[in-house]
Amino acid sequence: MADRWDSSLYDDRHSFVWKAGGGVFDLLNPQPGERILDVGCGTGHLTAQIAEKGAAVTGLDSSVSMVAQARQNFPKVKFALADARSFVMEDEYDAVFSNAALHWVREPEEAIKCMAAALKPGGRLVLELGGQGNIARICAGVEEVVRAAGYAGQHTWYFPSIAEYTALLEKHGFMVTMAQNFPRWTKLEHPERGMREWLEMFGGAYFDDIPAEARGELDKQIEDRLRPTLWSDGQWHADYRRLRVLAEKS
Ligand code: BEZ
Repeated sequence: MADRWDSSLYDDRHSFVWKAGGGVFDLLNPQPGERILDVGCGTGHLTAQIAEKGAAVTGLDSSVSMVAQARQNFPKVKFALADARSFVMEDEYDAVFSNAALHWVREPEEAIKCMAAALKPGGRLVLELGGQGNIARICAGVEEVVRAAGYAGQHTWYFPSIAEYTALLEKHGFMVTMAQNFPRWTKLEHPERGMREWLEMFGGAYFDDIPAEARGELDKQIEDRLRPTLWSDGQWHADYRRLRVLAEKS
């Protein structure tokens, strides 16, 4: 699959993604000497914070560009190119961590199987991803505009409910100890171009069938459609909802 990611743009304009991961990082509570796997580590900021706590951490990402940027950002931290649906680790880990990555994985059971196999018995799984209802306003607005223009308007993200995701975890040998779905209204970084830049970085599949020359006008229509609900106090916002899950490998 082509690498969709522009990792410098990600670090430059979308640092809110890893900055917002502070809460789930605190839940991980990495301890010195623990072996920890960070699945979908992006440009490595949270992986590096785990390393700073003295844990032996490895960051995995399926994007060549993200792994290269992570290595450049944090040369002393270990990163590897790996697909969340198929990775195999030689070692057993005390914890598997993932922030804002697993909603890109359309085959959740494959990722859950890999994470389970990487953990030692009793090891902990600490995850945050887009949950049911995530970016519902953004999706509704984009779909309305692009479908009216004759395009498919389909996204490929995975935003599971608590019931769906925890059932999958239990099916694959986890005991779920905490699950939450909560809103995280998030300010986008650029005051005027925030929504456009978010769509450029993350909009992915919505725009795959749209010629580049049609994008400008569609972006404008999407902004007009979303402004009444996602623009306030001089800023664009994303209507994120997070699914946060803690589980133990039985
Ligand atoms: C999220 O973090 O929830 C997300 C980010 C980009 C696209 C879709 C969802």
